[in-house]
Amino acid sequence: YRILWREKVTSTNDEIRILAGQGMSEGLVLIGEEQTAGRGRRGAAWFSPKGENLAFSVLLRPRAPKHLWSRFSLATGLAVAEGLERFLPMAAIKWPNDVLIDDRKIAGILVEAGADFVIIGIGINVNPEKFPDELLATSLKKECDREISRAEVLLEVLKRLAKYSGRIESDFEELLDGVRQRCALTGKQVKFLQGGNHRSGRVKGIGSSGELLVELNGSIEGIIQADEVRVC
Ligand code: BTN
Repeated sequence: YRILWREKVTSTNDEIRILAGQGMSEGLVLIGEEQTAGRGRRGAAWFSPKGENLAFSVLLRPRAPKHLWSRFSLATGLAVAEGLERFLPMAAIKWPNDVLIDDRKIAGILVEAGADFVIIGIGINVNPEKFPDELLATSLKKECDREISRAEVLLEVLKRLAKYSGRIESDFEELLDGVRQRCALTGKQVKFLQGGNHRSGRVKGIGSSGELLVELNGSIEGIIQADEVRVC
C-alpha cells in the first residue's frame, strides 16, 4: 500500500477516483482527515467528525472478472470486522457490508467500480462519543472505554483487506465462512425493497456466490442486490 493523507477532502471515494483516472496504481490508500461531502450508500451523507474517525479509500485494479466484483463488498466487510476484533470480542456483518456491534453500526463501506478499477471506501467510527440516538451507531471508543489509535485500526484493516481482496475468485469459500460466522441477518425476519417491490421473508444464510438466501413465499431465493435490508 501507498498511503496518501489529506487534511480535507470532499469524499475520499471521489478524490481517489480522480487519481485512478490519472493512472495511479493499485494499492493507493487515500485518507481524509476531514470529509466535506462524505457519501454513504443510496446517496446518504456520511459524517466523519474531524480527527475522530477513519475515512479512507483504497484503489484496486482487479484481475478477477467484473461479474465477481460485487464480492469485494463481502471481502471488505470481513476485513473490517476482523480488524475491529483486534479491539473487541466480535463484530457482526449485516449483508452486504455494514459492520455492527450489538446491532449498532460501527463502520460503513461503499464499494464503487470504474471501467478498470474498484474503489473501496471505508468509514469507521473510532473515537467519536456522541451519536444521535436514531442513527443506532456506536464507536470503538464507546465499546472499549478507551481512546483507540486510528493508525492501529487502519493497519489491522488494511492487512486483512490485502488478504481477502485477493480471494474473490479462488478461496472465496473461506472468505464466505468468515462472513457467515458473523452474519447479523441469518435466522431473522427481514423486509427490503427490490426493483420497486416490497418483499419480506426469513433469512436462511449466505449462498455460494455471496448472495443473501431468503425464504420468500415458501421457496428460497438468492438476493444479489437489494436496497437496505431491515430486520422486522
Ligand atoms: C454506508 O454505510 O452507507 C457507507 C458509508 C461509507 C463511508 C466511507 S468514508 C470513506 C469513503 N468516502 C466516502 O465518501 N464514503 C466512504
